Amino acid sequence: MKNLKIAVIPGDGIGKEVVPVAMKVLDTAAEVHGGIKFEFDVFPWSCDYYKEHGKMMPDDGMDILKDHHAIFLGAIGNPAIVPDHVSLWGILIRIRREFEQSVNIRPAKFFKGLKSPLANPKDFDLVVVRENSEGEYSEAGGRIHRGQDEIVIQNAVFTRKGTERAMRYAFELARKRRGHVTSATKSNGIVHSMTFWDEVFNRVRTEYPDVKTASCHIDALAAFFVTKPEMFDVVVASNLFGDILTDIGGAIMGSIGVAPSANINLEGKYPSMFEPVHGSAPDIYGKGIANPIGQIWSAKMMLDHFGEHELGQKLLDVIEEVTNEGIKTPDIGGSSSTYEVGEAICSRLRNL
Ligand code: NAD
Ligand code: IPM
Ligand code: MN
Repeated sequence: MKNLKIAVIPGDGIGKEVVPVAMKVLDTAAEVHGGIKFEFDVFPWSCDYYKEHGKMMPDDGMDILKDHHAIFLGAIGNPAIVPDHVSLWGILIRIRREFEQSVNIRPAKFFKGLKSPLANPKDFDLVVVRENSEGEYSEAGGRIHRGQDEIVIQNAVFTRKGTERAMRYAFELARKRRGHVTSATKSNGIVHSMTFWDEVFNRVRTEYPDVKTASCHIDALAAFFVTKPEMFDVVVASNLFGDILTDIGGAIMGSIGVAPSANINLEGKYPSMFEPVHGSAPDIYGKGIANPIGQIWSAKMMLDHFGEHELGQKLLDVIEEVTNEGIKTPDIGGSSSTYEVGEAICSRLRNL
């Protein structure tokens, strides 16, 4: 029996609704498999925790997390009580950085039973490889002369190491898929970092002569995500470009509530973290109608990470079946609750 120790951080808002449902799905998947077992350690680290303790996690929080095979996170953020930059940098971005989760993998595909807002969505199936540790998300900068005549500097930081490793990951992934990588650039307007990005891309691609490539400015690329997403296989993007593109990825599937992600520590030195693309959705929190698919599909990515590809594929098939049968939350046109969608997935998994 393989015992998998998972640190669970439901976080804020709908994270607290979708995470328990996804944990039950994981337990059910483990039962079906027979050879794995999940041991969940649930941590209440969140904005509520901050309110009580003045910090997003205890001082030894990172040490505690380190001792797990993976981290399963819901969402962080309750701007009514803690400013977003404090809560997110206190936990989500902190974990991504300190645990060197240097790439964030975010698939989007035409999903059976989901009504895409696109008139003719075709059969798109793409993965965005988002650089996850640097770029536009940076602490380099500052503010002087607060108030009138204020000066604000926010520096983007791109390293050769970080840029290359995201690109290499994208090429390796493309080799296992349809063999195509698109680079998201903006070197026409951002003259230092994005010309560097292009240079690195042009060099790395010579190491993968079997993989076809394209380079596309982010503005046009964002539009192509809407007009012809089927043209993409793997897209490699900087931290901010990847962030924005993947909300579009969610939207064209039918809802941001279905999009999953995996923050990967490539060396296996620290745990990787699995979380949906969406946030804490304060506008719908408490109604029991949050779509749990993004969280459950993130669980599927965690199964893949543990080498359980067959089980992961079964789970994704079951999610599609349940959606196709019309057991859906309101954001994708149904009337089921978070709980009911989870139960339907568990019962179909058991009947496999
Ligand atoms: P959001 O993703 O939380 O919500 C955007 C819209 O999508 C809302 O209308 C929401 O109701 C809807 N939505 C999101 N997830 C859904 C789901 N599972 N089912 C149905 N509808 C869903 O983005 P936001 O409103 O910009 O951010 C809210 C808070 O979450 C902020 O504090 C933000 O910083 C934080 N946030 C956290 C994460 C994270 O922890 N990974 C990611 C994004 C945003
Ligand atoms: C995401 C989120 C985060 C990000 C925020 C909450 C800091 O939007 O994971 O997509 O931008 O990385
Ligand atoms: Mn985002």
